[in-house]
Amino acid sequence: MATTTAPSLSAPAVTWDVNDGIATVALDLKGQPVNVISRAVKDEFLACFAALADDARVRAVAFFSGKPDNFIAGADIEEFVTLGSAAEAERLSADGQEMLERVARFPKPIAVGIHGACLGGGFEFALACHYRVATDHPKTQIGLPEVQLGILPAAGGCQRLPRLVGARGALDMILAGKSERAAKAFRLGMVDELVPPPILAEITIAAARRMASGWRPKRKRPGGFVGFLLDGNPLGRGIVFRAARKQVFERTGGHYPAPFAALEAVEHGLKHGLAEGLKREAQLFGQLAVTDVSRKLVQIFFATNQLKKDPGVPNAPPPERVKRLGIIGSGFMGSGIAGTAVSQAEVDVRMKDSDVARVARGILAARAILDDRLKRRRVTKYEYERLVALLSGGDTYAGFGRAELTIEAVFEEIGVKQQVLREAEGVLPPTGVFASNTSTIPITRIAEAAHDPERVIGMHFFSPVAKMPLLEVIPGARTSAQTVSTAVAFGRRMGKTVIVVRDSPGFWVNRILAPYPNEVGHLLAEGASIEEIDSMAVRFGFPVGPVTLLDEVGLDVALKVAGVMQEAYGDRLTVPPGPGIAALVKAGRLGRKSGRGFYSYKGGKKRGVDESVYGLLGIHPNGGPRPAEIMQRLVLGIVNEAARALAESVVRSPRDGDIGAIFGFGFPPFRGGPLRYADDLSAERVVADLERLAERYGTRFAPSDVLQEQARRGTKFYS
Ligand code: NAI
Repeated sequence: MATTTAPSLSAPAVTWDVNDGIATVALDLKGQPVNVISRAVKDEFLACFAALADDARVRAVAFFSGKPDNFIAGADIEEFVTLGSAAEAERLSADGQEMLERVARFPKPIAVGIHGACLGGGFEFALACHYRVATDHPKTQIGLPEVQLGILPAAGGCQRLPRLVGARGALDMILAGKSERAAKAFRLGMVDELVPPPILAEITIAAARRMASGWRPKRKRPGGFVGFLLDGNPLGRGIVFRAARKQVFERTGGHYPAPFAALEAVEHGLKHGLAEGLKREAQLFGQLAVTDVSRKLVQIFFATNQLKKDPGVPNAPPPERVKRLGIIGSGFMGSGIAGTAVSQAEVDVRMKDSDVARVARGILAARAILDDRLKRRRVTKYEYERLVALLSGGDTYAGFGRAELTIEAVFEEIGVKQQVLREAEGVLPPTGVFASNTSTIPITRIAEAAHDPERVIGMHFFSPVAKMPLLEVIPGARTSAQTVSTAVAFGRRMGKTVIVVRDSPGFWVNRILAPYPNEVGHLLAEGASIEEIDSMAVRFGFPVGPVTLLDEVGLDVALKVAGVMQEAYGDRLTVPPGPGIAALVKAGRLGRKSGRGFYSYKGGKKRGVDESVYGLLGIHPNGGPRPAEIMQRLVLGIVNEAARALAESVVRSPRDGDIGAIFGFGFPPFRGGPLRYADDLSAERVVADLERLAERYGTRFAPSDVLQEQARRGTKFYS
């Protein structure tokens, strides 16, 4: 049967053929890696459905993606960023809603077969169809991630999902911008049927055929009796919405308007009906689309996407494909790297430590990462078993001879690092890369011990490795482009966002972060309280304050890093008066890991400030500086150092620098990173503030040359 297409100027994305009463439609954006819904695609959809409505042969429709591993990734974000006004954005949403209304009311039933990412507008389309079949493949991810871009699902998603799965389930997905694997989506009621990929087409077409003969799916309200109590009546729903609002506030500190707007769109629709809900949804989308927060989140999204394609060096040779990974040092970081490498990159991992007992502990710790994924049903029992089998280790280098990449995470001592490098070089394959996870030692120094420094590089992971999204890759003075390419590519396979950073003290993240905890000492000495310092940072938008951060990192680790930073940049990092953190470390208070630091911890939970800390530090909180000034001192120290480090080319671009700050230590994403933040304030204002602080608190706040120059010329980091 001949394939029919909708009229279109360029190659058509929507094609269909009719067979035995069923129209099989496929969406495939030619020349694009994934399907997205743009204006052009919408027009083709409309033309296609108009033709199918008129075609007397067609009794039902089965819809698929023509891409091998992607259904529809969402609405076209490129189109979204060109929106100039709230009214224009509202219209875009209303257009999308209208199209999906037509799909929902289409006179012939539509079944959709989902394989691969089905996100945002893609899932909203699926929601408008009458029956959803999804493959049980790991690539099939279903959800509404819009709030992560500072907007809300605005093609009916805030209306149709709660009607399908109940308010609780829908809010859980929408407010966190989550996507779920198909199995979970099936359990939640987001899809009707779960099938292995080879039979997706057959089952979807069969469902279309059944619906053509009058059959309709019967859907139970999920959640049983409790679900009925909470979702099925206005009183219960009131409770659900109040709880959700509170939770969103706790999670976002009120910095992100999108989840609140989404809540309102859902609530409004359930109270006043679908049509009113859609209207409110479009209005709220209009308002959100032009907010500064949304712009920032979209910039981060684009930057992260660009970094996914960035090989890290100009004219990079193709990376060596890592199939076997060696890890030396199976402690805290080594085991974290091992577990993450296995679960994300599915490579064979061989660990080595000085004795087998330590290796065994390391393997158990690595395995805990897999256990967690199993518990959260991110992997099946079968996949879990297969992944666990990839972990092995011993007290010798057996197995390292075939490792394309080896990462060391031994003690932070140059002698030990150089020793294991020499040992490893003796057994690694001729092209094997040796990476160090050092946080403070120059890679070039470590590489001095190597026969072949071209193959030595830094891969600086952050703790906990499984959760922290950033990796700094640090080429030494003699590292080859091939080595960089291999390290960057592997970091990415581990699921990390990778920035390439110059070999200099603290690299990027620890360097620009250094003024933050350092300022804590000064603030405490001036009489500020621990709670106040932390709360001002949180109010600015950091996930945790600097004192909590110190406890999380471990005070011993922080002290060591501080020493290196002090030595390198001491003129700017003036030491606060008093005994400082060293006194706490001496007293065995290392932070969370030892149950006591600035705060006390019980059963893994943070309790209040451990007041005895003030005695150890020889200080007493008595007010201290004004809260607004505390915030300014914490933030501008970072901004100033970031400006300076960028000027020294520690990162390649403001983009890399901001991404490093956001993903490395949680600089508030809605502010776009320290460099973007400086641009927003204007260099003139930053310099004026820094000068005032320098006058009052000393030269550590003296504005960097680059900021001064920008202030003079009126230029910015981002042009
Ligand atoms: P750790 O003390 O937990 O682990 C070090 C492991 O290396 C121990 O199991 C030890 O037995 C083993 N080891 C020591 N010498 C060895 C040798 N010659 N051969 C084989 N194994 C040997 O330390 P952690 O925290 O995992 O740190 C490791 C590295 O990671 C350090 O360079 C550290 O600076 C770096 N790092 C640490 C971060 C953290 O937050 N802890 C963050 C980023 C990097």
